[in-house]
Amino acid sequence: MKTFWLDLRQKQNFMQQQGYQVSMLRTLLSDGSSANFLYRLTSALIRYRLTPLAFITLWLNKFINGCVLGAGCQFGKGLILMHPCGVVINSKVRGGDNIVIESGVVIGDEKGKAPTLGHNIFIGAGAKIIGGVRVGNGVKIGANAVVVKDLPDHVTAVGIPARIIKQEDHP
Ligand SMILES: CC(C)(COP(=O)(O)OP(=O)(O)OC[C@H]1O[C@@H](n2cnc3c(N)ncnc32)[C@H](O)[C@@H]1OP(=O)(O)O)[C@@H](O)C(=O)NCCC(=O)NCCS
Repeated sequence: MKTFWLDLRQKQNFMQQQGYQVSMLRTLLSDGSSANFLYRLTSALIRYRLTPLAFITLWLNKFINGCVLGAGCQFGKGLILMHPCGVVINSKVRGGDNIVIESGVVIGDEKGKAPTLGHNIFIGAGAKIIGGVRVGNGVKIGANAVVVKDLPDHVTAVGIPARIIKQEDHP
């Protein structure tokens, strides 16, 4: 459960960046933390080949938090599910460290291929990322955007289909 602890630490940092000075206890009790916990538990159960138990925790996450994070999807440390309602993530999705996912985000497959996400990514409420696309490091995806093509590092993309509106110079 070390990864869950790292998720919580990152969530606390993120909330502080947004101007909310919150304790770890408050972070733990905030919306989304139980979804993070059940997702990490599901992943651990899969790793230990306890697949039937993993399907129970996956199911619990669906009924308690209203989100479906496929049993096989993999994220690095610092995953933040801010508001889990309506979040659906395909089992084949691979994500790096420090990814923030707002409510209603769908990261799904198309023609058997699923997205790969880099590190330090923000995905706004209602955004959809579909198919075998690659989302680079440091990308921000606007609320309700639909990403169907690769996004390079350090850009902000909005709209349907998502288009790049900002590109940061990064060393
Ligand atoms: C995409 C986002 C991250 C960009 O933030 P930002 O870098 O501060 O961008 P700005 O606010 O300066 O907006 C830049 C331009 O993009 C437009 N824009 C911003 N977000 C947009 C979105 N989601 N869809 C379409 N256009 C958007 C702005 O209108 C602005 O257009 P203009 O230059 O013609 O005026 C942010 O707007 C966003 O969508 N955040 C999601 C927040 C969220 O999901 N909150 C949920 C809380 S529960």
